[in-house]
Amino acid sequence: MSSPNEADRPLACKVVCLGVTGGIAAYKAAELCSMLVKRGAEVHVLMTAAARRFVGELTFETLSHNPVITELFSRSAEYDPEHVALARRASAAVVAPATANILAKMACGIADDALSTALLTFDCPCFVAPAMNSRMWKHPATVENVRRLKERGVVFIGPAEGPLACRDEEGPGRMAEPAEIVERLEEFFRAGKRS
Ligand SMILES: Cc1cc2nc3c(=O)[nH]c(=O)nc-3n(C[C@H](O)[C@H](O)[C@H](O)COP(=O)(O)O)c2cc1C
Repeated sequence: MSSPNEADRPLACKVVCLGVTGGIAAYKAAELCSMLVKRGAEVHVLMTAAARRFVGELTFETLSHNPVITELFSRSAEYDPEHVALARRASAAVVAPATANILAKMACGIADDALSTALLTFDCPCFVAPAMNSRMWKHPATVENVRRLKERGVVFIGPAEGPLACRDEEGPGRMAEPAEIVERLEEFFRAGKRS
């Protein structure tokens, strides 16, 4: 049975791997990271090269109090690669924002950078918060990738409908708000689905 403290703070001491990919919504991932840390989670951020074009890794290092993983091949990773070390400890993986590209890589099992490789080693629950232009979201390739990932148990949070970053465009594709993502994770851990 969970203690009252565990029920109040379901994310306390949970190891959350936050994958950040290259979309304009990457700035929202900084708020998500901060909210997770405030709720007691140990957050490890993995960023793609495209994500780093939108937000600097220093932001996430400062907010998470942990080094950000960006490289698959690094000197310190030679004997215990970071993605494997994390896979042993991760309570949950969250990709926010999730690009059309990372959804395609996840659906196909492609492991060509630190984040996609880590995602392939994890056996923890995986949540994704897609964010993209609605044309990309509605493309048959993305629709098929989403279907395959859902079938495999990946939990989708959003995307929401509304105005998109591209001028004058509206539709499904906005990243879910960080508060909603945190709430979904809290619900998941409160239900005791994974310790
Ligand atoms: C200004 C700009 C905004 C972009 N926004 C998105 C987006 O919101 N969603 C998306 O799927 N791709 C977006 N892209 C394209 C991705 O950055 C591109 O597909 C990239 O290869 C994704 O790499 P990653 O999945 O490894 O981060 C954007 C590109 C640019 C130049």
